[in-house]
Amino acid sequence: MPVTVIVGSQWGDEGKGKAIDYFARDADFVARYNGGNNAGHTVINELGTFKIHLVPSGIFYPHTTCLMGNGMVIDPQVLLGEMREIRDAGVNFEKRLLIAQRAHLIMPYHKMLDGLYEEAKGAGATGTTRRGIGPAFADKISYNGLRWADFVGGTFDERLWVQLGLKNKIITALGGAALDYEEVRKTYWDYYAQLKPYITELAPIVHKGLEQNKKFLLEQAMGSLLDTDWGVYPFVTASSTLASAATTGLGIPPRKITRIIGVTKAYSTRVGGGPMPTELPDGHPARAQFGETAATTGRRRRAGWLDLAPVQFTARLNGMDALFVTKLDTLSGLDELKICVAYKLDGKTVPFSVLESTGMGRAAPVYRSFRGWTQNLTEIRKFQDLPKPAIKYIEAIENVVGVPVRYIGVGPERHQVIKK
Ligand code: GDP
Ligand code: IMO
Ligand code: MG
Repeated sequence: MPVTVIVGSQWGDEGKGKAIDYFARDADFVARYNGGNNAGHTVINELGTFKIHLVPSGIFYPHTTCLMGNGMVIDPQVLLGEMREIRDAGVNFEKRLLIAQRAHLIMPYHKMLDGLYEEAKGAGATGTTRRGIGPAFADKISYNGLRWADFVGGTFDERLWVQLGLKNKIITALGGAALDYEEVRKTYWDYYAQLKPYITELAPIVHKGLEQNKKFLLEQAMGSLLDTDWGVYPFVTASSTLASAATTGLGIPPRKITRIIGVTKAYSTRVGGGPMPTELPDGHPARAQFGETAATTGRRRRAGWLDLAPVQFTARLNGMDALFVTKLDTLSGLDELKICVAYKLDGKTVPFSVLESTGMGRAAPVYRSFRGWTQNLTEIRKFQDLPKPAIKYIEAIENVVGVPVRYIGVGPERHQVIKK
């Protein structure tokens, strides 16, 4: 697997954390390349259950070097808390957790602005995680961001002074309380003092690893349908989430990527605003079975039938070689299952790619219906041992998406995987 990218094919929370944990056994490097602590990746292992927001999910394997790429935005307070939690669980990551000095910082004003913008948008709000992600990436792109490199190069104080002056004007105009320069400055220097041993320029490490043919596992955050450009704008996140973003987000040349695996949950979930054609109402028996709580914000995830209309598209956008279908076990016990295979708008079949948010809000899902099964799947490890209807369901996913399913999750734990 020299360079494998693990991408979610839906709206996030597909089970990427579990997939990374499954593959990290064979990896030399595990790296995050986009987003920030809007992500919440669940890893369950012999040490416990972890909801990881920033550190690569391969951290639990002592042989891995874990990289936090320049494509990330990092909230140091959250990172330090997460490092403490992982250290307290008995994991030693000294010298093998490395943070890109080019990565941008989430500042307190980014979090405040995230909330203020959301409130101003009212019913049209994106439903962000309010972790400051959008404002931090906006600053990055408009040359107003602060990076770890500003501590290294001695420009932090001066640049903070300018940014805080600007941001305080916006915050107070929107009814928020101004931040104190000296307080923010001291707090961030203290974070830097604690994180300095981990911060470095990653490019030479990445390039040396590639030259030595080391195995890289690249961990996407968010799902492909939340990509800024290719998701349904403005109900997206602020970074590119596609496998291609791993190139800029880590300094990996595109031709070095050898395998792209799309993680697809056996039904659909979504957190936050935006259209979701297959969403099921409360009270529907399947809705109760698909119940999930968001790993980052604790919000209740919206849920519905598996929607493959957009997955067909994200499989092509990413160039997926294989699918890792998760949570097949959670479908047991439903009499009938449905998969959305296309959308109809005003009586015509329309591809996902042409639908803007209003069109998608009106799109009617075209369903194929499948027989359910009652058996518990959690102990099954061979594809041919799955009940016939479950095999049919997986084969339908392969046919509609046009990508082979190679891995199937039948439980939240590391070993609960069928390799097909
Ligand atoms: P991520 O953000 O893509 O890493 O996904 P999350 O961790 O936010 O959400 C996925 C949820 O599904 C977590 O609670 C996982 O423990 C759980 N999960 C992942 N794969 C499976 C599976 O195959 N079966 C079951 N039952 N749960 C799974
Ligand atoms: P993982 O990595 C699910 C959603 C938010 C919101 C939109 C924008 O765990 O799959 P943001 O805070 O990024 O500005 O919010 O994106 N969102 C996610 N939804 N899983 C995630 O990450 C998400 N990260 C962001 O709910 O709709
Ligand atoms: Mg998640």
